[in-house]
Amino acid sequence: MRAEDIKTVAVIGAGDMGHGIAEVALLAGYRVFLRDIEERFVKRGVERIDESLKKLLEKGKVTEEHYKRIHGELLKPCVDLKEAVKEADLIIEAIPEILELKKETFREMDRLAPAHAILASNTSTMSITEIGRATQRPQKVLGLHYFNPAVLMRLVEVIRGEDTSDETMEVGYGFCLKCGKVPVRVEKDVPGFIVNRVQAPGGVLLGCILDHGIAEPEEVDALLRKLGMPMGPYELMDYTGIDINYHASLYFARAVHPDFAPAKAIEEKVKQGLLGKKTGKGFYDWSQGRPNIDLSKATSKVDPMDLLAVQINEATKLIEMGVCTAEDIDRAIVNGTGNAIGPMTVAKSQDPEALAERLERLAERFNKEIFRPTRMIREGTYR
Ligand SMILES: NC(=O)c1ccc[n+]([C@@H]2O[C@H](COP(=O)([O-])OP(=O)(O)OC[C@H]3O[C@@H](n4cnc5c(N)ncnc54)[C@H](O)[C@@H]3O)[C@@H](O)[C@H]2O)c1
Repeated sequence: MRAEDIKTVAVIGAGDMGHGIAEVALLAGYRVFLRDIEERFVKRGVERIDESLKKLLEKGKVTEEHYKRIHGELLKPCVDLKEAVKEADLIIEAIPEILELKKETFREMDRLAPAHAILASNTSTMSITEIGRATQRPQKVLGLHYFNPAVLMRLVEVIRGEDTSDETMEVGYGFCLKCGKVPVRVEKDVPGFIVNRVQAPGGVLLGCILDHGIAEPEEVDALLRKLGMPMGPYELMDYTGIDINYHASLYFARAVHPDFAPAKAIEEKVKQGLLGKKTGKGFYDWSQGRPNIDLSKATSKVDPMDLLAVQINEATKLIEMGVCTAEDIDRAIVNGTGNAIGPMTVAKSQDPEALAERLERLAERFNKEIFRPTRMIREGTYR
């Protein structure tokens, strides 16, 4: 099969990600079956697609004709799994992050879908290999990891499980291109794939800064805002939910290295239910809207280059493992986070010896082995 052969897509799960993924495919002109387990969830997914399409219509980003075509013929909401997948060329699963549920759903999809259909998972943390092996067609299973909100974020990580065929990777990659996305190949099924993995040690360092009483969140956020970031990292954590960060840390601690375990300061916030914007309070008070960061509080006790150094280090681990290229890392970070440049571009301007020393210092100071410089950094081969 080639990407051009895909005519019909099934999206399984109509929640935050599923409705967005379906909308992206609809905008690209695909016929899309959108399935959830109850009528009301499907209906809500369709409503959310419609709300978003209407905004695009107002902005002239979708034509009246295409809008009508989506509702008239392209979008097929349903509750029955067989109806959803029986004509599909590509199926994208976006159901809750529970391994047994995903495996069971893949087993069923495998049984009900046409033999040629490719099955993709939007999982953020689970093994594509393991999900694929729940089916009789693991060579036709891959990861298509969209970012939230799927309509706006351009990156899709295209993930190869151990059994995924080259053809399946090509079809997944080509499909994303046809949807106007920026696909990046992730050649090995590693925890966190690219974007979440590269960012994870930065989160560890932010936790260390609090646990060691080096600086307050506002002092660090003020510093990074002054350097041009639209939102400081602690405010961003509040915005996305401190619990999300906490669970991601537990996951990385289990899947990669115990050093990723959540910082005490983060654990405390979660215990107290101070999760950020959604609960009205986290590091900041959100009850009156977005917090006002006092830029005059910018600290000199934190070196922003430390945050970049640990990201560069993690990025080189992915390159050493053969997961992706340096260019792919930057493409993924720029399109998946909105950062202006990627860590490997920053790395080019860094003297390897100084970078390695900086990382050794961080590893010693915070007792974190994950900060130790990689061979690529020690030998300066990343430049
Ligand atoms: N939310 C994010 O920022 C984000 C980003 C990237 C990837 N992901 C991943 O995407 C997946 C979905 O996450 P979400 O945030 O959209 O979750 P969500 O809870 O918003 O939506 C999940 C939907 O799946 C439905 N569902 C449950 N079992 C089902 C089944 N057997 N068949 C069909 N539908 C079923 C639920 O009713 C719900 O509507 C997860 O694997 C998550 O890790 C999430």
